[in-house]
Amino acid sequence: MCGIVGATSERRVSGILLEGLKRLEYRGYDSAGIAVIDKSQHLQTIKRTGKVQALADAIDETPVDGTIGIAHTRWATHGGVTERNAHPHLSEHEIAVVHNGIIENHETLREQLQALGYEFVSQTDTEVIAHLIHHERKTHNDLLDALKAAVRQLEGAYGTVVMDTKDPERLVVARSGSPLVIGVGIGENFVASDQLALLPVTRKFIYLEEGDVADINRSDIKIYDSANEAVEREVIDSDVNYDAGGKGQYRHFMLKEIHEQPIAVRNALEGRLSETTVLDDAFGEGAADLFKTIEHVQIIACGTSYHAGMVAKYWLESMANISCNVEIASEFRYRQSFVRPNSLLVTISQSGETADTLAALRLSKEMGYRGSLTICNVATSSMVRESDLAFMTRAGAEIGVASTKAFTTQLTGLLMLTVAIGKYRGMNEQQQAAIVKALQTLPAKLEEAVELDTEIEALAPDFASKDHSLFLGRGNQYPIAMEGALKLKEISYIHAEAYAAGELKHGPLALIDEEMPVIVVAPNNELLEKLKSNVEEVRARGGIMYVFSDKNARFTSDDTMNVLNVCHCDEVIAPIVYTIPLQLLSYYVAIIKGTDVDQPRNLAKSVTVE
Ligand code: G6P
Repeated sequence: MCGIVGATSERRVSGILLEGLKRLEYRGYDSAGIAVIDKSQHLQTIKRTGKVQALADAIDETPVDGTIGIAHTRWATHGGVTERNAHPHLSEHEIAVVHNGIIENHETLREQLQALGYEFVSQTDTEVIAHLIHHERKTHNDLLDALKAAVRQLEGAYGTVVMDTKDPERLVVARSGSPLVIGVGIGENFVASDQLALLPVTRKFIYLEEGDVADINRSDIKIYDSANEAVEREVIDSDVNYDAGGKGQYRHFMLKEIHEQPIAVRNALEGRLSETTVLDDAFGEGAADLFKTIEHVQIIACGTSYHAGMVAKYWLESMANISCNVEIASEFRYRQSFVRPNSLLVTISQSGETADTLAALRLSKEMGYRGSLTICNVATSSMVRESDLAFMTRAGAEIGVASTKAFTTQLTGLLMLTVAIGKYRGMNEQQQAAIVKALQTLPAKLEEAVELDTEIEALAPDFASKDHSLFLGRGNQYPIAMEGALKLKEISYIHAEAYAAGELKHGPLALIDEEMPVIVVAPNNELLEKLKSNVEEVRARGGIMYVFSDKNARFTSDDTMNVLNVCHCDEVIAPIVYTIPLQLLSYYVAIIKGTDVDQPRNLAKSVTVE
């Protein structure tokens, strides 16, 4: 979603800010802007719609020159994609502000500020912050005090960084609901919405907590908590490795990340299995004590992570002998749900910052859950910090907006969770050992699945001219069909819908004709015969099918059916293995359609607003 970078240094900061924006661009990217304070204490601002490169080109033509500055990539919420609506937003050419999040009472504040004579030039909620600070500055001698007074009036979520030409050595920042991290340099300091933005300039980071405000200059950082007490926050040495240009031999990050899945899953398994079971420690200290006491699992997530949760429900109920509900976070947080006794709340999130999922986690603390666990890819994220337990998926930085390796490593973690909980609920040693054995084969099976690359590329032209498609699966492959459909629509913009194959006759069969390709996920499992009946229902109505299946399932290609053989694998890991051909299919269809694969239109990697 939106990205923030700020820097105060002895050197020119525009290069640092631009590099930071490029590294954040994958999160949200309809426009970008930069503001610096120059030697004569004036604000120099440039904004552009489109990619960060457009901003970089503009700065090449008209360089901005300052040793303190802020910059932003925007993903529009309030107001269209225009230069006026891009950040930074200014007040009276003195105050400059960048902001992530949503100010919910912006309309009231706007009216109040207009009554005070402030003129608004954008349609954004952010502009109220700039004018509010400018207004508060009149009655507060100090910029930080003005910021504190302003944020007391804000409702909603914000991570914001502010500069003032009258106090040109300082960045003042506030966090409530949108993450901010301070980068500690030598004789220079930085701030960003994600440490990835700052890795070229520092490895030392301070994570602000909810309600913190901070005062940052070149040589000093002061932090105040929500009670306005000065606090020391730990400086963390980051070991994250991120090479912004790192597509390697691949044309897109997404393809690279698809191919990285065998290794990502190997990393996710590393050191977490014994010969016969899953080690409780994989989920953090105290996991065993918590798992012993729980009688129900409630999973909350969004998007692809929600699909991982849906697969986990099949696993947990069938193998760990525990009831499990899965819910989309934006629904869960706004309804009154019934909390079963001794429930474990599990959030699943690649980023650990998704606003709805994080809000659901926070809400659960007042609802009587026994404990919380997050399955997450970012160790420093809010969800990891705020959950009782965490399973780190170790997928490595995922840059493509469409999630791939984050998903398969989440599934790997959730299958391990099934054993970790199941062993306290009657899963016997042989059953545990059988799942462990299947997990150990997973990286090699994923390697085989990735090798289908060229075969799948050959299927892609059949889809590229279509407007719609239908994905079918049964059992734990139904969520995989949903994930396949999500991938296709995200990056190829083809309408794709997934159905549990048994539901076909209750409506979607009416859609079947030769213009509606039907993708069937059909591993050789106990539901195969049922699925074959569904396949016949489609065939009888002239549908064209693409069946992803195991050789032993005995589907044969003909005029109406294209069969793609996926490697034979243990049934329990089949949802993870069958994900890969569907990812590859959407990728190659998107290539033919010429879409922006890594940064599809209108989408963001990490959705930190509701
Ligand atoms: C966005 C991304 C999706 C992701 C979802 C949830 O919509 O584009 O790829 O699945 O957010 O994100 P999370 O970080 O919570 O897994």
